[in-house]
Amino acid sequence: MAANLNASRVPILNLGPITRGVCVTMCGIIGCVSRREPVVELLLRGLKRLEYRGYDSAGIAVEYPSGIRITREVGKIRRLEDAVGASPQDGTTGVGHTRWATHGKPSEANAHPHVSADGRVVVAHNGIIENYRDLRRGLESRGIVFCSETDSEVIPNLIASHDRGDFPAAVRAALAELHGSFAIAVMHHDHPGVVIGARKDSPLIVGIASDRMLLASDAAAMLEATREMVFLEDGDMAVLTAESASFSRFDGTKVLRPSVTISWDLARAEKSGFEHYMLKEIHEQPQVVSDALLGAIGSGHEVNLEQIGLSDEVLRSLDRMCIVACGTSWHAGLVTKFWLERFARISSEVDYASEFRYRDPVMDSRTGLIAISQSGETADTLAALRRAKTDFNARTLGICNVQGATIARECDGLIMTHAGPEIGVASTKAFTGQLVAGFLLSLKLAAARGTLSPHEVRRLTDQLRRVPQWIARALESADAVRDVAASVADARGFLFLGRGANYPVALEGALKLKEISYMHAEGYPAGEMKHGPIALIDEGLPVVVIATRGPVYDKVASNVEEVRARGGRVIAIVNPGDDRVSKQASAIITVPETDPLLSPMINVVPLQLLAYEVARIRGCDVDQPRNLAKSVTVE
Ligand code: M6R
Repeated sequence: MAANLNASRVPILNLGPITRGVCVTMCGIIGCVSRREPVVELLLRGLKRLEYRGYDSAGIAVEYPSGIRITREVGKIRRLEDAVGASPQDGTTGVGHTRWATHGKPSEANAHPHVSADGRVVVAHNGIIENYRDLRRGLESRGIVFCSETDSEVIPNLIASHDRGDFPAAVRAALAELHGSFAIAVMHHDHPGVVIGARKDSPLIVGIASDRMLLASDAAAMLEATREMVFLEDGDMAVLTAESASFSRFDGTKVLRPSVTISWDLARAEKSGFEHYMLKEIHEQPQVVSDALLGAIGSGHEVNLEQIGLSDEVLRSLDRMCIVACGTSWHAGLVTKFWLERFARISSEVDYASEFRYRDPVMDSRTGLIAISQSGETADTLAALRRAKTDFNARTLGICNVQGATIARECDGLIMTHAGPEIGVASTKAFTGQLVAGFLLSLKLAAARGTLSPHEVRRLTDQLRRVPQWIARALESADAVRDVAASVADARGFLFLGRGANYPVALEGALKLKEISYMHAEGYPAGEMKHGPIALIDEGLPVVVIATRGPVYDKVASNVEEVRARGGRVIAIVNPGDDRVSKQASAIITVPETDPLLSPMINVVPLQLLAYEVARIRGCDVDQPRNLAKSVTVE
């Protein structure tokens, strides 16, 4: 049920002591102050574009002459839209929030925006306030009554407790007491036409338009209003009115923050006629690779990575590369390791960022640390990066898809993946963008270290330029994949096998399938199968094998025979004209033959399509799978 709360007369519900722990949030926020245009519709549309960040409850707060009206609803934004439908729509200042909770059930009371007990201060928060228990205890001892289980509700109450009539000063005083990560959007009943934003370890961007100012967790939420954006730094606060945006540090020191013009347009951030964002993003991959290559390969076949930030001398001085990442980005890291070792002859390892940050790695200033992250905000990857910098003085390089993201800003050097906004929770085009970045980096390092002949560099860059057309042809397998999906959509589980650079592709195929279809799937190096998983083989467990031509083709073909000998059902990804594996397989999906070194970029495509089709047949929510969020900004 919706709750329409007038913040100047907010009904206070005492839910009693906190019993269920911190409501960790990983959410999207938006705010807007407009000169004349009502903001309700804009906030709702912005929230829809932020929905990928979390979608278990949502709310908006809008300012009217009678006070600030808050509407909150459990579930997706469309339920909030229905709830807002009957309210007046003419307010010109407002904030909104879409929430994803890992603890504490999604409920109207836990949904944002939250309001101070005196009904004057309203806050939408993304992140986690680590010291909220202490803060809450202190506020409760002064008679403040809380309405939710969230950590976030301390923020409006803290601001209200510091309120002496100067709104920015009250926010600043509260910020000084907060520990943890946060991006907030704040409104005050006594200060109409003002929204204050602040960030620490959570993204927040200000949008500048001629007739309004906005803020949001993600640029896509503001693109319909403006492309001119200011990326706040950690420790920045922004005070927005309809005509102005002023920036300061938490301590009040004024700062100038340059605006940048975002090149993504709205159409690109929307579905463009595809049934799901994921499908659209799979089909965008040829374009993603073309975009990533623009300007990256010079006329002499040299690799130009504008923002790499590390001189050739530094690249030569490195004796080891260490890649940290999570999920799909970790898989891209595994493929990149293969290229780094092959092209640049540099020892490389790949770590889960969540493991790296707590173990005792051996590294120093001769280690190159590569942090791969689509969002550039993943908490574990960011923590691993910071650890490598501070504890080991490692040289750091980010591979990121989001301009201005924290990881992008904190690395010594950066390679942007240019995949555009990825809305589907399951990463597809960002993975391909990461592979291209990893390939280019490996070539760049090889050039600096003199480990590849000019002829080999020319050959590899020529091949790389052909990847968009190969991916486009791989997408033509969609009909065959749909048939295969129909035949396996009720299987009890899946095994994905690959070798060499295609072993991480097998891992990625399995991850895609389990994320969006909720079916168990495991990725394995094909040669390892006989050391355990072979016991699983029977008719009910389809085995998807990447068996394209290359140095390990014969080995993979033998593994396929092992599966067949035990009555297993093989779905093989093969090149045209394949006769050995195809004869053994129950179904084949054909992809164009490429240089084996580049084959991961092509072979992943049918696996993405397979996951998509199986999930669709099973009626799953493809773009917003249960329990997952796009950007994991808390540990
Ligand atoms: O934004 P990041 O690349 O740092 O995110 C890492 C993982 O959370 C992400 O790849 C996740 O595994 C995706 N849901 C995979 O589809």
